[in-house]
Amino acid sequence: MSARKILVTSALPYANGAIHLGHLVEYIQTDIWVRFQKLRGQECWYVCADDTHGTPIMLRAEQEGITPEALIARVHGEHLRDFTGFHIAFDNYYTTHSDETRFYSEDIYRKLKAAGLIEVRAIEQFYDPVKEMFLPDRFIKGECPKCGAKDQYGDSCEACGAAYAPTELKNPYSAVSGAQPVLKSSDHYFFKLSDPRCQQFLREWTRQGSLQPEAANKLAEWLGEEGEHRLTDWDISRDAPYFGFEIPDAPGKYFYVWLDAPIGYMGSFKNLCAKQGLDFDEYWKPDSQAELYHFIGKDILYFHALFWPAELKFAGYRTPTNVFAHGFLTVDGAKMSKSRGTFITAESYLKQGLNPEWLRYYFAAKLNGTMEDIDLNLEDFVARVNSDLVGKYINIASRAAGFITKRFGGKLLAMPLAEKFASVLPGLSEAAEEIAAHYEARDFARAMRKIMALADQVNQYVDLHKPWELAKQAGRDAELHEVSSILINAFRLLTIYLKPVLPKLAQRAEEFLNVAPLHWRDAAHLLPPAHAINAYEHLMTRIEMKQIEALLAANKESLAPGAVPPAPTSDPQSPQRHAERQQNSEYKLHNQITIDEFAKVDLRIARIVDAAHVEGAEKLIMLTLDLGPLGTRQVFAGIKSAYDPATLVGRLTVMVANLAPRKMKFGVSEGMVLAASDPEGKTAGLYLLSPDAGATPGMQVK
Ligand code: MSP
Ligand code: ZN
Repeated sequence: MSARKILVTSALPYANGAIHLGHLVEYIQTDIWVRFQKLRGQECWYVCADDTHGTPIMLRAEQEGITPEALIARVHGEHLRDFTGFHIAFDNYYTTHSDETRFYSEDIYRKLKAAGLIEVRAIEQFYDPVKEMFLPDRFIKGECPKCGAKDQYGDSCEACGAAYAPTELKNPYSAVSGAQPVLKSSDHYFFKLSDPRCQQFLREWTRQGSLQPEAANKLAEWLGEEGEHRLTDWDISRDAPYFGFEIPDAPGKYFYVWLDAPIGYMGSFKNLCAKQGLDFDEYWKPDSQAELYHFIGKDILYFHALFWPAELKFAGYRTPTNVFAHGFLTVDGAKMSKSRGTFITAESYLKQGLNPEWLRYYFAAKLNGTMEDIDLNLEDFVARVNSDLVGKYINIASRAAGFITKRFGGKLLAMPLAEKFASVLPGLSEAAEEIAAHYEARDFARAMRKIMALADQVNQYVDLHKPWELAKQAGRDAELHEVSSILINAFRLLTIYLKPVLPKLAQRAEEFLNVAPLHWRDAAHLLPPAHAINAYEHLMTRIEMKQIEALLAANKESLAPGAVPPAPTSDPQSPQRHAERQQNSEYKLHNQITIDEFAKVDLRIARIVDAAHVEGAEKLIMLTLDLGPLGTRQVFAGIKSAYDPATLVGRLTVMVANLAPRKMKFGVSEGMVLAASDPEGKTAGLYLLSPDAGATPGMQVK
């Protein structure tokens, strides 16, 4: 069978921010898949680049007092350093600010124009009269039209989650200059996605492939019913001043960053072709036999599954074989947060001396090829890595190696082992194809489960034969030699299976095993008889919880809102705004607040001195709370379903002491006690908070 030709990309990170653990979900996922393909002997190329254009990058450079070129050059170095630190092995890491990307941007634009798919129309937008530029939604702030919250962005409200147009904001102001924006008209260039040819093609494209079911659903929703024309044209131009590529024959008009960003995949590959002598057209011509896959986050599916295939199709290039979208990373169940220290940068993780392969393994154990969010639970992270990698896998080598070295001159048993091996560890060699299928399907979680089940089997074999006891008994050397040799072979097979996830560790294991770099096909045989191994040196240490605590401390920041807001992940001006905003609001569930905002809540220890049923109230208990120096309060708490009033009297809890009094049917409630519950109602029950022993009524909680 001849090797498959596969071109793989990860989304291009914006060139104005640091790589964080959320990004790494994607780059680690892609890298594992690519390494797997290469181990299988496929011709697989992995390209990426920095996404360098757009208003946020232009303003960021200005703020730092440097040119955009200087900014993107610096960030390029930082990004590549971080990726390399996590063993992400791009075949090319380039930039969209390149001749190649400019060439294909102009080329695709001209071809779309020739196909009658580009249209020019005047539109009205907010303009900053002081800064003399049009403002993307994220750079317009004002009061939310729905709830009145101040300082909200022009596309959605972080207080109430409402989505709206910037023109609906009350008292809008420019986040760049503070000036009041004015509406101004200018000519924009549109890609006519509403053209029936585009809609028709996208329907077919959606149907033909093996898209993830969630992605196919999203697309079906965006496209609407057969015969419906839901897609609207896409605004692909921005007016000067802008950092990007000027549109041919349109002075002062630039390609919107999302037009040239995916074209950056082609640019990076073209650049690789020059270095490696590859044939670009073989991968990009319409009837190409090569496979093309884009790994992306679910927030940018719209761009990759609608705009991008349509652009390629009508510009006469091949379309993607598939788009693989993943979910978002949460840390301990919540959105990454700078104030909690869970907005962890790649750089800080490495600087704190944490092993990148711990994270690679943990992500692998969680990634299952769907668009579900994945949670980095820090306690689980420590427990999993220690028990799986160190306890189950590394343990096998460390237990057997010493005997081989000290008792048998560093050599494995001189007799062929294959038959014996298959009888005592059945299925260990045969699992190769099953594990490969899980990797291929990007169900790394399943692959890891299978591998760890095999490791369990090997450890049972260890416990059964207790080599450390054999070593103490006279006349049992042959047995000890056999058991140890079997274990070294088992370790070698597990190393092959884990190699896509743990490339560095595998390399050190290969040195210890004294073998050439392992390929997947090497799982079909064992080490030769009497093979000599090298002395074992410890391959991986355990994680300590205190290392995680130090990592969080290093990432804790008090939130000083910067002048430049985060780069938008959706096209602010596009007519598709709505669907994207709906998606974005999913990520805004756990809103960040500043420490100052939190400090406004006056939390106090309270003693429940009296608790009584409330006549006629189904859910309420009336509590009398002693706040020490602050006096007593009466509070109606909705905890009747979980507590009998009699059991509450005397205990301490936590209350919000400065909540405005609320008049209820049964009387005035002067605060609120805190209880935990599951908002999704998966588990019934309410759990009133209690302080540790020693806290006294009136103490502040902060
Ligand atoms: N520049 C665009 C992509 C252009 S592709 C032609 C962009 N950049 S980004 O830096 O914001 O994100 C890069 C990738 O990282 C995206 O696929 C995004 O979904 C992913 N992630 C960013 N934060 C993430 C999490 N918290 N969790 C998981 N993936 C995340 O979008
Ligand atoms: Zn609001």
